[in-house]
Amino acid sequence: MKVLFIDSGIGGLTTLAQTVKIIPNLNFIYYADDKYSPYGSLNSEQIVTRLKTIINRFLNHNIGMVVLACNTATACGIDILRNIYNFPIIGTEPAIKPASEKNNRIIVLATPATTKNNRFFKLVKNCPCSVEITPMPALAKQIDNYYLLGDALSKDEIDITINHISHLAEGKTHIVLGCTHYVHLKRLIKSRTKKQVIDGNLGVACRVKSLISDKFLSIKPKQKFILSSKNKHFAIKYKKIFLQTLANIDNV
Ligand code: DGL
Repeated sequence: MKVLFIDSGIGGLTTLAQTVKIIPNLNFIYYADDKYSPYGSLNSEQIVTRLKTIINRFLNHNIGMVVLACNTATACGIDILRNIYNFPIIGTEPAIKPASEKNNRIIVLATPATTKNNRFFKLVKNCPCSVEITPMPALAKQIDNYYLLGDALSKDEIDITINHISHLAEGKTHIVLGCTHYVHLKRLIKSRTKKQVIDGNLGVACRVKSLISDKFLSIKPKQKFILSSKNKHFAIKYKKIFLQTLANIDNV
């Protein structure tokens, strides 16, 4: 049996890497819906349609669990999906709770679709300290481009965005990364802003571990990367980025 991880691009590789770090023999399929990315610019209905299409496609592939390795997909779709499918569906949400102590001042960076979502508002509402919400309309795509193309333009764009984040984070104590893509830049954001930078991946990985049984594990695990664009060159890069992310996890 396998776990199906879904994201719009390379963001969910950070969730996957954290999960494989604590469950090394996990059988999984990583599905990147790159043909329809960024999800953050779609509306909820479009996102739910994509998620249902993807999950239905894999129903006969021995899938026993789905991880929405994407805050946007979780915010827009998890309640609907849980009413349709009868296997566990794990979501990824901005890790506001671990940062919510009374005198903290939090800034949450997330996609426009997440910051407009009711599920997300509820999370923020229950927080006992000040929370500023900042939509980042271009960042997820910039990160995909930076890691997949590695050209000078993408590098410059990322640099400008991190300067912008440093500026936004002035006077704050914590930066919450409310999009799995941003976790790829965690170390960079931390060193530039000197703030506490938090993501939700460990929580997701632990939740998966608590629900996993031996039938999801193999000595030689079956691990596949599939892209909706069918770009084979990128699929190879995804595997490399996953392995690099996995190797660096302890340092982040
Ligand atoms: N990685 C996703 C998230 O956590 C979505 C990025 C996007 O496609 O906009 O929200």
